[in-house]
Parts: sequence; structure tokens; C-alpha cells
Amino acid sequence: MSAEEFAERAIEAQEAERARLAREIHDGIAQRLASVGFHLSAALGALPPSGGPSAHEARRQIEAARELAGLAFAETRAAIAGLRPPVLDDLGLSAALAGLAREASARQPSLDVTVTVSGELDAPLPDHLQTALYRIAQEAVANVLRHAAALSASLLLEFDRDRVRLIVIDDGRGFDPRLIPPDSYGLRGMTERAELLRGRLTLRSRPGDGTTLRTVLPLP
Ligand SMILES: Nc1ncnc2c1ncn2[C@@H]1O[C@H](COP(=O)(O)OP(=O)(O)OP(=O)(O)O)[C@@H](O)[C@H]1O
Ligand SMILES: [Mg+2]
Repeated sequence: MSAEEFAERAIEAQEAERARLAREIHDGIAQRLASVGFHLSAALGALPPSGGPSAHEARRQIEAARELAGLAFAETRAAIAGLRPPVLDDLGLSAALAGLAREASARQPSLDVTVTVSGELDAPLPDHLQTALYRIAQEAVANVLRHAAALSASLLLEFDRDRVRLIVIDDGRGFDPRLIPPDSYGLRGMTERAELLRGRLTLRSRPGDGTTLRTVLPLP
């Protein structure tokens, strides 16, 4: 087999695998999410209209869950189509990060999350860089919520002449980066995203001393 043929077959295999994944997501996760939304709507309908404070709180929580199911459904569709996360189209990166921060504080009221954007760009940040930074921030915030038990977290987005930096800092319990479980995907996925764009992701953490995750991507 010639080198070209080999490369061609490798790409074909990759495309086939991608198509398989898209099908799985579409037929599996997306369908399930649609059913979750359906059941949540039914639950809302079944709540007594004037049921006092606990029914009011239940309604609020179910509405929030239904909205999240809807967002997750839209995200799976976008992922299948290879598109960027829909919030970026609606809001742009800075506002999308602010949305992430708001959602995180809503889920963990003891946690205060701030977003700071500094520097300016001559041209708009290319879509694929926005997507990568948003996805990295999303996983970093998910990790803070899940693992850090932090009181505060900051997202810093810094534009420079030739690079953009995203720094996520929390004051939580920290961890030893040498002891990351082999079956965890989050940090590996973030690192791969950064490297694909010729960037770098660095992690600084120590038990008892919070975590800082730093992503630097070169600008075109
Ligand atoms: N901000 C953080 N604070 C404390 N520990 C963290 C933080 N971020 C990551 N960790 C630790 O690093 C480990 C690896 O994180 P990673 O995101 O790769 O996997 P995960 O969150 O466990 O699972 P998933 O694959 O769903 O992301 C976590 O299990 C956790 O122990
Ligand atoms: Mg994770």
C-alpha cells in the first residue's frame, strides 16, 4: 500500500468511526434527553396549581431541569453536526463564560464565580478558538463543582497581541496531579483540545492549596 493509500484509508476509517459516534449520540443520548424533557413537562402539569411553598420550589426546580435538558439536547445536536455550542452563536464567548459562572453559582450557592475579560482583539476571535475555550472552561467549572469544594473561582480571559489565555482558579481542596485516575477523560480532553490548536494547557494544584488551570492558545 502506498503512503497516500494508507493516509486515505486512515481518514476513511476515522470518518466511519465519527459517523458511528454521531449515530450513537443521536439515537441514544439525544432521544433519552428528549424523553427526560417530556417527563419533566408532564411532572409540571401534574403539580397542584396552588400547593404552597414546597410545590412552588418543586415547580422552580423542574423548570430549571427542563431547561437544562433542552440545552443538553441542543448541544448533542450541535455536536453531531460538528457545530459549535449554540450559546456561542447567541451570546459570544465572554457572555457565554458569564453564563457558565451564573449556572455554577446557582448550582452551588456557597460558590462565588467571577469572570474577568482583559485586553482587546483587532479581529473577532475565530470560531474554533471560541469553541475550544468555551469547552475547556465548561469542563474546568464542572471539575470545580464536582471535586474542589471551593468557595470562590475566577475565570480570566486575557487577549494579547498574538495569544489568548484562559485561566481558571479555585480556592478549593486541590489535588496531586500525578494521581489522576486513568479512566478520567476531562483533563485529557482539555489538553488534547489545546494541543490540537498548537496551544498548551498547564495545571497547578496541591492538596489543600486550590487549583489553577491555564490554557494558552496562539492567535492566527
Ligand atoms: N478543580 C479541582 N479541584 C480538585 N480536584 C480536581 C479539580 N479538577 C480535577 N480534579 C481531580 O482530578 C481528577 C481528574 O479530573 P478529570 O476532569 O480528568 O476527571 P473527572 O472529573 O474525575 O471525570 P470526567 O472524565 O467526567 O471529567 C478528578 O477526579 C479530581 O480528583
Ligand atoms: Mg472532569
